[in-house]
Amino acid sequence: MTDRLILGQTLAFAGDPAVLGLEAARHEAQGALLVRSGKIAAIGPASALREAYPRIPVTDHGQGLILPGFIDAHAHYPQTAIIASWGKRLIDWLNSYTFPEEARFADPAYADLIAARYLDLVLANGTTTVASYCTIHPESVDAFFEAAKGRGMRALAGKTCMDRDTAPGFLRDTAQSAYDDSRALLTRWHGVDRLSYIITPRFSPTSTPAQLAALGALWAEHPDCLMQTHLSEQTDEISWVKSLYPQARDYLDTYEAHGLLGANGVYGHAIHLEARERDRLAEIGAALVHCPTSNSFIGSGLFDMGLRHRLRVGLATDTGGGSSFSMLRTMAACYEIAQLRGMTLHPADLIWLATGGSARALRLDDKIGKLAPGFEADLVVLDLAATPAIAQATAHADDIWQAIFPTIMMGDDRAIAAVYVAGKPLKG
Ligand code: GUN
Ligand code: ZN
Repeated sequence: MTDRLILGQTLAFAGDPAVLGLEAARHEAQGALLVRSGKIAAIGPASALREAYPRIPVTDHGQGLILPGFIDAHAHYPQTAIIASWGKRLIDWLNSYTFPEEARFADPAYADLIAARYLDLVLANGTTTVASYCTIHPESVDAFFEAAKGRGMRALAGKTCMDRDTAPGFLRDTAQSAYDDSRALLTRWHGVDRLSYIITPRFSPTSTPAQLAALGALWAEHPDCLMQTHLSEQTDEISWVKSLYPQARDYLDTYEAHGLLGANGVYGHAIHLEARERDRLAEIGAALVHCPTSNSFIGSGLFDMGLRHRLRVGLATDTGGGSSFSMLRTMAACYEIAQLRGMTLHPADLIWLATGGSARALRLDDKIGKLAPGFEADLVVLDLAATPAIAQATAHADDIWQAIFPTIMMGDDRAIAAVYVAGKPLKG
């Protein structure tokens, strides 16, 4: 029997509150979801659904707030063990911590160990879908997809390609092997169960023009696939790109010139964009992914959330450049960075970015990220009084937004009361 009535408070978004206003959100203090065969079959007041489906087993989360499971639109699962490494900015951080750790994924047993650890950590934090970079080793992709498949998760990942001598010799492929390996992995995994392959050049500085062109050709052969990469994260990185690609008009042009700019492109960070880059990304219909804890932790800069009015924007941890596995912590950092840019994000904006916004960025917004009939039943249930500090702050809340904001700002995995993956309860 896979049917289940799940009771609690529900907060369902019809779309982006930045476009639709707060009418986009519908709150039921005593709400219910009917879950059938891994999907949401109905949503409404608990009384109405109980009456309509009297014989279906019920799980009652009381005051728990049911939301779509969080969607982390950019992470590096191989950086799990080096999260919170001290004292470096991007390029030194990659060389000192990241590349030596990623080299360990040549060992498939290590890749299996970290993939399992990583997915258990994100699920404990209420994240049910991740788009992850892997390492140059094809086995690191197999390990991630096997672990996600075993947990029934919707997940996206790709082999991280690097063939330039700017990357260490022990972590380099070639233009040809990057194409061949990526193609073989795409064939093996794309569309299997709930898994999607993403073509993944790490970023322009660690690829030769030949490798970017080879991956651009692969993308042209598989235009339904997403392509993810990094763009304009730090000013030093941008100067480096300009020295490596002297003919390029700007950083984005290094991708554009090699077939790596498209409507299914997902560009991480995108902080220090020039006007041409913003216009071109918007014209093409690409997606940007904001990684706020990473941007403050590595000292990258302040993303312009105003871009969400022109482009699809998702939210992400960027683990382990990001300092957290938690999308609650990520929403808090997103709020703080917007404040530093003079923009005040509403709790509705933050929740949307971590659910429907990330789903749109990953072109999965017909499947996940919404509490609505037909959507996959990946759910998180939040305890809005998980710690004494949060409980005393919410005690005087007048509405659902005041009730949820302290959990957004101060919550962590203790606030995750339950998680469902395709309707199956995992926690709580
Ligand atoms: N740019 C290229 N690779 C990386 C990475 O692993 N993390 C971050 N934050 N930026 C990158
Ligand atoms: Zn990244």
